[in-house]
Amino acid sequence: MSFKLSKRLNKIVEMCDTVDTIIDVGTDHGKVAISIANKGLSKKVIAIDNKEGPLQSCEKNAKLFINNDNVEFKTLLSDGLNNLTVEDKKNELGIIITGIGYDNMKNILESINDYNFKYLILSPHTKIVELIKYLENINIEIVQQETLYDDEKYYYILKAKKKMCLINHL
Ligand SMILES: C[S@@+](CC[C@H](N)C(=O)[O-])C[C@H]1O[C@@H](n2cnc3c(N)ncnc32)[C@H](O)[C@@H]1O
Repeated sequence: MSFKLSKRLNKIVEMCDTVDTIIDVGTDHGKVAISIANKGLSKKVIAIDNKEGPLQSCEKNAKLFINNDNVEFKTLLSDGLNNLTVEDKKNELGIIITGIGYDNMKNILESINDYNFKYLILSPHTKIVELIKYLENINIEIVQQETLYDDEKYYYILKAKKKMCLINHL
């Protein structure tokens, strides 16, 4: 694999800011997770996939391309966030879920408010309008929205955060 990021993957990385742990769900080749580790955006990076094949290719790429010894890089076989350890769950998280369909993404997001996340980066292959409505229903607000044309397709990438409950601040 060459380590050049596409315009879309580059934008995903660019939208992440510094946080304790960044999790890339559906990591596949691991390019986003590896690039985040190299940039030192978090102390720990967890690359998740629900299939062995993609995880093995991510591990191979991590060995070849990670050049930052200060970051802990971990791969995890998991359907969404299900197999995350209690310890990892407690950390402040940035969670990336991109390149999968909306229905699959919605299943992963069902328990998202149980996690201590600072931001989500979301880009489904399908049904962006449904995703926006769903986020509103679960009290998550979109703070950045990017549309880009890459590889002959339009992509939508959202950055979202937990809505602030004003009543707690009175
Ligand atoms: C098309 S690739 C996307 C890779 C990268 N995230 C991107 O945006 O280009 C989708 C990856 O998500 C994985 N995947 C699909 N559903 C998943 C789930 N529920 N939990 C974890 N990984 C999943 C697939 O195995 C595959 O490797």
